[in-house]
Amino acid sequence: MAVLDENYWSCRYKFGKTGWDIGYPSTPIVQYLDQIENKEVEILIPGAGNAYEAIYARENGFKNVHVLDISSFPLEEMKKKSPNFPTDQIHLEDFFLHQGTYEIIIEQTFFCALEIPLREKYIDKMYSLLKPGGRLIGVLFNREFDSDGPPFGGSQKEYEALFKTRFDQVRFMDCRNSIPERMGTELFFTAAKSDFQ
Ligand SMILES: C[S@@+](CC[C@H](N)C(=O)[O-])C[C@H]1O[C@@H](n2cnc3c(N)ncnc32)[C@H](O)[C@@H]1O
Repeated sequence: MAVLDENYWSCRYKFGKTGWDIGYPSTPIVQYLDQIENKEVEILIPGAGNAYEAIYARENGFKNVHVLDISSFPLEEMKKKSPNFPTDQIHLEDFFLHQGTYEIIIEQTFFCALEIPLREKYIDKMYSLLKPGGRLIGVLFNREFDSDGPPFGGSQKEYEALFKTRFDQVRFMDCRNSIPERMGTELFFTAAKSDFQ
């Protein structure tokens, strides 16, 4: 299998092999953002790709939205689409090396892009990037895939066991507002970092 490094992802963008890219902000994330009143909340979207959700958030008043990706290709596209997006909130970096703390981290097709042995490291890193009381939220595929990944699938049972190793109040539910192509194959989840650190 290919090594899923910066070169791998940049080649996928360069040659337009981006089947994951839906071309607009995804409904579960949009509807989650729409119910947040505090527009100052510090948000990170790692593995953001073209970052439609971050642009949506910014256009809807959120001031502290950060995006991160290992490949410059989607981030340069994003800058063209949203020229006023603060450049210090766009991070061209490996997620596992990123330093910072946030109140909300949004997951969308980033977890499934990482090799399965990295999942525990993902959980530890997400936990360390959250402020006490912060939340990791988003969507995960509730299915396996026929071909070699990415994407790499999984089940609610596996995810729950994994997330509960670090997080409190881990909640998974069938995602009822997925985009049509993913309807019935996604879980929406929230996982909180305890206030008491
Ligand atoms: C499947 S794509 C999803 C992109 C976006 N979330 C979306 O839904 O369109 C996975 C993204 O994660 C990025 N990525 C993969 N490994 C990464 C890492 N270690 N650090 C940061 N970004 C990474 C890739 O460059 C790619 O943009």
